[in-house]
Amino acid sequence: MLPEGVTIDPLTGHISPSTGKYTKRLSEFRGIYRDEKALDALLKEQGDLVTYEVVEYRADGSDLFFGTTTMMPGRVGDEYFMTRGHYHARQDRGEIYYTQSGEGILLLHSRDGQTREVDMKPGVCAFIPPDWAHRSVNTGKSRLVFVWCCSQDAGHDYAEIASKGMRKLVVAKEDAAACIPNPRFQV
Ligand SMILES: [Fe+2]
Repeated sequence: MLPEGVTIDPLTGHISPSTGKYTKRLSEFRGIYRDEKALDALLKEQGDLVTYEVVEYRADGSDLFFGTTTMMPGRVGDEYFMTRGHYHARQDRGEIYYTQSGEGILLLHSRDGQTREVDMKPGVCAFIPPDWAHRSVNTGKSRLVFVWCCSQDAGHDYAEIASKGMRKLVVAKEDAAACIPNPRFQV
């Protein structure tokens, strides 16, 4: 393990060098967006679009690792393209999200029912406290690119948000983004 300067492209999220990558596609969001008909229509019209891509830089033996998430612009009905949302598997592990380009909203909620939204825009570094669920939402017309950094042992718990949803939704209202309570959220 040696020190290294890693280049990050703020417009594409490309990392050099990188150690891993995955993409998420529209069809993987079935049951997550409330407007299933809009999802079906979009899949039929545009195919199984990549909605976001995650690239990481990880060194074995380090406590920290980091990477980028690059989110495409788009909507399913009145909901914007978003990440799956997760808690960390370890309840004592936080994270930061530092926005490089684009605009969005970081939705968060705690286990005891508090909710927060943090604007994602260049220059803003969002602090995600341990044990807060987090989901990012691209509310802009271009890519939303952010750098994240957390502990390698933080782990991901996607199942809880997949089954219960987030407490808030971000929806387009007359072309502006609004956060509303999620009527389908299950306590
Ligand atoms: Fe996270």
